[in-house]
Amino acid sequence: MDPSTIFKNIDRGLLLLIIAFIVSSFIQNTPKKGPALFIAGNTKAHNTDKGLKDYYKNYFPIGVAVSAASLHGPDSALIVKEFNSVTPENDMKMGPINPSEGVYNWKNADDIVDFAVSHHIKIRGHNLCWHNQEAIWMFKDTNGKPVTKELLLQRLKDHIFTVAGRYKGKIYAWDVVNEAVDDSDDTTQIYRKSNWYNICNGPDFIEAAFKYAHEADPHARLYYNDYNSEHPVKREKIFKLLKKLIADHVPIDGVGMQAHWKLNDPSPDELRKALDEVTSLGLKVQFTELDITIRLPQPKPATGAAAPGATILPTPDPGYTPELEAKQIAQYKMAFDIFRQYKKFITSVTFWNVSDRYSWLDQRGGGLMGGAAAAAKAPHLLKKAYPLLFDENRQRKKAYWSVVNF
Ligand code: G3I
Repeated sequence: MDPSTIFKNIDRGLLLLIIAFIVSSFIQNTPKKGPALFIAGNTKAHNTDKGLKDYYKNYFPIGVAVSAASLHGPDSALIVKEFNSVTPENDMKMGPINPSEGVYNWKNADDIVDFAVSHHIKIRGHNLCWHNQEAIWMFKDTNGKPVTKELLLQRLKDHIFTVAGRYKGKIYAWDVVNEAVDDSDDTTQIYRKSNWYNICNGPDFIEAAFKYAHEADPHARLYYNDYNSEHPVKREKIFKLLKKLIADHVPIDGVGMQAHWKLNDPSPDELRKALDEVTSLGLKVQFTELDITIRLPQPKPATGAAAPGATILPTPDPGYTPELEAKQIAQYKMAFDIFRQYKKFITSVTFWNVSDRYSWLDQRGGGLMGGAAAAAKAPHLLKKAYPLLFDENRQRKKAYWSVVNF
């Protein structure tokens, strides 16, 4: 064999040895990062030091609905770590905070505000005018008869000046009017026929509430808040209301889309359409009550389905199955992918309740869901909704990581 060929072979062998030595020493000296080092793609390590608010610090505040009690218990550590906005779930509503004329229950509401201020957490006020959890005394005069429109609006003004005035400079945004739009598929019915609507003989109370709120706290951001705002019929009704408010120069800053969603509702297109319509009016959007229940509406039981007096045994509840978990992960991912795309218009995303330990959607059986079941005091056949990003032990669910890994 020609010497130059031998030399070439020795060289090549030596070269391979040197390369092998360099590579092996590189591998030995490189800190082990586990599979992430050698598997391309998205095996981003789960950084547990950060909370939702940190992942989204360049997008929008991430909030949560709280009760005064939750701030003094095991929820409080999670609230402070994960969120930078709070909304009182019930403690600032008209009935709970103003149960009778001139009487105000400030303790729980003050508790929540003081907690938030001391932890540098933003506060959304909820709410200044609603057809549920009402201050029922407002609708009756001293003889127990329905009040006049003038007296009702004066009482509304006194309430808003007192509550929004008390938290002036502390509450940065208010759900001024909640759920005033009709829920039916009847496109001719724009407004819910609430006590407010019936006594005012129309929707004037809506504009009045916004004007009173603006006078009480000129710097607060004022929102109209509603649910199913992505459903086409209701979306168009809300759009009509918003156009009227803007035409009447009502001080409104945006729309609260409550986002009490399901595994298959809304679709991405419905969500985008709702966002595009509201923002086309120059308004901002806040998702104010986000949860994604694993429960689909139950089919109404067929009439006469069971013989009278027959005991209907509760069907065994499969609970939070891997299939339902996967659908919930996909729906949360879809939602936050779109939220981030609309970050110019979205000024807050708030979850409704802290963890699956408690959701307003739980304890709902008998085919009713959510508030309707609460109102109807549906049978307490415990069917949990598992709608949030933290499980019953306040631990991050897989859905959490689908929201923060972007
Ligand atoms: O505080 C009373 C207590 O004294 C009494 O013993 C108990 C039993 O009657 O009721 C307690 O009040 C309950 C209240 O929650 C506080 O726990 C009410 O009955 C109950 O109806 C009320 O439910 C609230 C619901 O609004 C009322 O419609 C839910 O917690 C709350 O999550 C839910 O939140 C609403 C938003 O404000 C608006 N968007 C829809 C959302 C879900 O309905």
